Amino acid sequence: MAAFTELVFSGVQPTGNLHLGNYLGAVKRFVEMQDRDAQCLYCVVDLHAITVWQDPEALRGQIREVTAAFLAAGIDPRRAIVFNQSQVPQHAELAWVFNCVARLGWLNRMTQFKEKAGKDRENASIGLYDYPVLMAADILAYRATHVPVGEDQKQHLELTRDIAQKFNTDFVGSIAAHGHGEAFFPVTEPLIGGPAARVMSLRDGTKKMSKSDPSDNARINLTDDADAIAQKIRRAKTDPEPLPSEVAGLRERPEADNLVGIYAALAGITREEVLRDFGGAQFSTFKPALADLAVTSLAPIALEMRRLTADPGHIDAVLADGSARAEVIAAQTLDAVKDIVGFVRRGPSLQAVR
Ligand code: AMP
Ligand code: TRP
Repeated sequence: MAAFTELVFSGVQPTGNLHLGNYLGAVKRFVEMQDRDAQCLYCVVDLHAITVWQDPEALRGQIREVTAAFLAAGIDPRRAIVFNQSQVPQHAELAWVFNCVARLGWLNRMTQFKEKAGKDRENASIGLYDYPVLMAADILAYRATHVPVGEDQKQHLELTRDIAQKFNTDFVGSIAAHGHGEAFFPVTEPLIGGPAARVMSLRDGTKKMSKSDPSDNARINLTDDADAIAQKIRRAKTDPEPLPSEVAGLRERPEADNLVGIYAALAGITREEVLRDFGGAQFSTFKPALADLAVTSLAPIALEMRRLTADPGHIDAVLADGSARAEVIAAQTLDAVKDIVGFVRRGPSLQAVR
């Protein structure tokens, strides 16, 4: 069995309106992962973004904005590799090989496609349908072992594991013959968890906080200023009861549960610990405390994002450097994949890059 050292990969789509759910469920955890003894790769997944039509100029701005959010939140581009997907051709290349490994039946079960395609499925792009296969390629081009994501990506990560396993079995003889032991791709570990794996809408505690919610009051955007953040929390939907003193008391109270979860994630504590301080308190007490915490945590990020996006040249340089470093790793994987699958190739690619 090949020894896989820890490698962390995750991606965020540059589709506008980065929000508190993206921050708490993903980006904040990316920052924390940097302190593990692991190579971290954080990717702005622009190939995924165009599975639904994007205005080209807006897309370019959004790619830079997500990159700025990564940096502003504390990702260090010298330690982690920060890059955009379209600059590393191996993602699309490996996705093709995986298209021939993944089964139609597997993709037909993907709930996110069903949600995003809606009733007009015939008119959805083929890319939207194939989206999870590209996601598997993103991860496995680096043979990543750990993938921090929000709860909504769970099914896609299960598919990634299925693709890795099927590739390993389909090509077991060839994998061994090329000196890769019994398994070429690792079975990736999803890292989903913490108090904010699924941040809900501020207007409806049963709906996920999302970039596409027509109501801007349903989400806190990473670009919101202090006033907007405080106002959205003040107006957040709640019920009339005070907060319970036990977590069990949050069951059947989706809005209360969501606000307590947000507080916990921002403060880096558990729901239990929040309720130890606020159990019995009215929302008129809890909401201002949450607003203060949110403003102190998020306003500096918004400010730094604004500073960074004012200098697109710097952002583009970070992406170019990250992409070159990512490509060195991905090219090694693709060289091996080509050997394993039985292609004839020109020779080792990109070995002289660094
Ligand atoms: P996306 O914007 O769809 O590319 O998502 C980027 C990351 O944010 C993924 O890891 C998602 O799982 C995560 N995410 C998106 N929405 C939420 C949410 N409401 N709560 C927690 N995590 C989320
Ligand atoms: N599908 C993910 C999302 O919408 C984004 C993504 C693309 C991703 N490729 C990835 C996340 C690889 C983790 C790993 O949130």
